Amino acid sequence: MTTSDTAGICPVTVQPLEEGAPPRPVIDLDVHGEEFCARNYAIYDELLTTAPLAWSQRNGGFWMLTGYEPVFEATKDDDLFISSAGTGLPKDGQEALAPGTGPIPIEIDPPETQQYRKPVLGLLSPKTVAGMEPSIRQMADEFIDEFIESGEGDLVQQLSTPLPAKLSLRLLGMDEDRWPEFVAWIHTIIHGERAAAGEAQMALFGEVATVLESRAAMADKPEDVLTAIVTCQVNGETIGFVEQVRYVFLVLLGGMDTTSGLTGNTLERLARDPALRQRLVERRDLLRSATEEFLRVGTPTQGLARTLSRDAEFHGQHMKAGERVMLMWAAANHDPAEFADPHTVDLERTPNRHMAFGVGLHRCLGSNLARAMFQVMIDRVLDRLPDFELTVGEVPRFHDAGNVYAPTSFPVRFPPGPRVSPSTGPAAAGPAQ
Ligand code: HEM
Repeated sequence: MTTSDTAGICPVTVQPLEEGAPPRPVIDLDVHGEEFCARNYAIYDELLTTAPLAWSQRNGGFWMLTGYEPVFEATKDDDLFISSAGTGLPKDGQEALAPGTGPIPIEIDPPETQQYRKPVLGLLSPKTVAGMEPSIRQMADEFIDEFIESGEGDLVQQLSTPLPAKLSLRLLGMDEDRWPEFVAWIHTIIHGERAAAGEAQMALFGEVATVLESRAAMADKPEDVLTAIVTCQVNGETIGFVEQVRYVFLVLLGGMDTTSGLTGNTLERLARDPALRQRLVERRDLLRSATEEFLRVGTPTQGLARTLSRDAEFHGQHMKAGERVMLMWAAANHDPAEFADPHTVDLERTPNRHMAFGVGLHRCLGSNLARAMFQVMIDRVLDRLPDFELTVGEVPRFHDAGNVYAPTSFPVRFPPGPRVSPSTGPAAAGPAQ
């Protein structure tokens, strides 16, 4: 029985799921669909008004949480909203990953979460990351050198994709010059067809297994993220080999497209808003607070899922054990109840309690590094090619915003400039898409 409806781009119908069940606000939303990718922010705006908690039958069925308060509260209740049953929603018609096979530590529930996180957390602290900045800067300059003299380039393909990829491989003691292969595997795993994704996963896991084995055999292990994972102890025992693979996989996955997405989303704003760009060119001291604002308005990881551990009444809705819940960080980051004038970019916004890195127990382990990479890339672009012009009307994006909201390409032209480092030969190959 339908009791009320809303019109609009994401209509809501209030109805029971089955005879005798309490009615719930129902929407027809596919978070992996192209329609969602094209209109995500308009959909959030509408749902924030009509139904900040709504149920969709797509993607295996899920609660869509857009309101800042419900999303925030859900992240704080790890007992009710668990992560171990999966943090991604399946595509329509596909099965979700079996629990206990997904990435680590994102799909580990308390009380063990902290034991998995701790060894890596210390290696990505603000102080450690500050020490990496000169090398990040050098890397950014080397990538820009590859195209600065020509007066044209692709800031996603030739800067924001390779830099985090190369640095993630460096963190893990892997061969960083092979970044194009790793990017191609990760993209195929996330965005490719099932069979191709399976093959890419096997290839990537093979590489990860080899590097883990050789690190485990090393007598004198360097102090880095790979060693932290190989020696990670939970309940007094070193974690198993498969768990180590699942952990390395997340560091690779977490580090790459997210940071590139943040950079690409920000470059698009700067390209389309000359006054905003000029302000940042002149007031580079604002880059720190601007980073938080760009994370808020251009959130790359739009949302991540949880699963209800039991039946519960939450923000007026009757939720059932086993139902999935999507915590839409990107929508919450535009909730006018938390952020005044949420669509305006305010480089000095305070407070700015955005949730782009999540909140609570599973808060992003790489947030300091992500900020540093982003700030260096934006700083180098604004210093070396401040007059860049986007050469396409619409920026090409991954079609699936349910995984990451990020451009795939950002072609620009600009007045040519000089290299800052000696030529190292032919330009590095771009990533395969
Ligand atoms: C702008 C860039 C990034 C964004 C937007 C981002 C976003 C997020 C979010 C929202 C979570 C929370 C997961 C949850 O609550 O279920 C998370 C977790 C995580 N991120 Fe990031 N991330 C970024 C960069 C990175 C980088 C550079 C790394 C690695 C070096 C990384 C590694 C991780 C890991 C390992 C976790 C899991 C933490 C846990 O479950 O305890 N991320 N990230």
